[in-house]
Amino acid sequence: MEHLINNQVKQLEISGIRKFFNMVAGTKDMISFTIGQPDFPTPDHVKEAGKRAIDNNFTSYTHNAGTIELRKAAADFVLDKYKLTYDPENEVIITTGASEAIDITFRTILEEGTEVILPGPIYPGYEPIIRMCGATPVHADTRDNEFRLTASIIKKYITDKTRCIVIPYPSNPTGASLTREEIIDIVDLLKDKEIFILADEIYSELVYDQAHVSIGTFLREKTIVINGLSKSHSMTGWRIGMLFAPQYLAQHILKVHQYNVSCATSISQMAAYEALTAGKDDAVSMKEEYIIRRDYVYNRLCQMGFDIVKPDGAFYFFVKMPSGYTSSFDFAIKLVEQAGVAVVPGSAFSEFGEGYFRLSFAYSMETLSEGLDRMAKFLSK
Ligand SMILES: Cc1ncc(COP(=O)(O)O)c(C=O)c1O
Repeated sequence: MEHLINNQVKQLEISGIRKFFNMVAGTKDMISFTIGQPDFPTPDHVKEAGKRAIDNNFTSYTHNAGTIELRKAAADFVLDKYKLTYDPENEVIITTGASEAIDITFRTILEEGTEVILPGPIYPGYEPIIRMCGATPVHADTRDNEFRLTASIIKKYITDKTRCIVIPYPSNPTGASLTREEIIDIVDLLKDKEIFILADEIYSELVYDQAHVSIGTFLREKTIVINGLSKSHSMTGWRIGMLFAPQYLAQHILKVHQYNVSCATSISQMAAYEALTAGKDDAVSMKEEYIIRRDYVYNRLCQMGFDIVKPDGAFYFFVKMPSGYTSSFDFAIKLVEQAGVAVVPGSAFSEFGEGYFRLSFAYSMETLSEGLDRMAKFLSK
């Protein structure tokens, strides 16, 4: 009965990251630079809060939007860090990871025939959902601008069908972020247009040489700010995301969230409360460590002759692959087979990622050093 399965779903492909993992799974003595999550454990005090939630039988449904205490903590967190002002009563939704926040936003605002502008290359979590909504993803090519999305690039892709622009910064996979000036240019372009902005700021606590500026502080009425604890507090498995939107919009997004998951996991919500209050600066020490690793990897890749942009944030390098390979997949497979090093082929991040590879530096210095030694040897052959 496969012919009865929804056509949009049938046409979806499993992500290029997963495809690559499946191919190299089981390779012995492989150093992997593929992972998109911090290598630090969840902070102990946050884990304890999760355990206490179980011991205290905090194991039932909560308010659909999350406990009011957690929503207040989330609102205070983004006010304190990024000057964002959202009412915890009706403008904050705690979601099952940022992934669910992306899903419920698109399902609330998109419909057949609408278009969504996304920078290319891009994290593969948006496009399938846009398509399942019957909308069309339109990639704005950022390759000639060191992967930076600017107002003048966005302008080229706006049509009367544009319903939303996705602005993810710092970016997975490129590490590029936006400066205050770049954001103000985008604000000037969009302020009089009836276009939503999905600002995916999941890496906002990992911005290295500048302050993170949220576009939600300028265009609050049309922006959905998405954040979460996966990256800032090394909590990918706890599945906690945060969605901030003006009330007229949040009230509709909340319905989609309600019929989707009812609420985020109660136990994780307790841990998240601890993370956003007592642990609100937990990311600072991780960030310091990432800066050391980023600078180390940058120097090593430069010595190997790669043409690279130093990432502003997140924990990825997006690097142009050497010549002589038929595709980024071909390069990545040969690197595994001949050097025992795994990176993610750029094609996993839309067609605009072809010709590049993503190297995550969310690994210990020992692992980075060994893997980069192997890579240097492979390239010198
Ligand atoms: C840009 C971006 N947005 C969203 C997500 C999903 O985050 P979560 O684990 O909170 O669902 C990721 C995860 O890698 C990401 O890189």
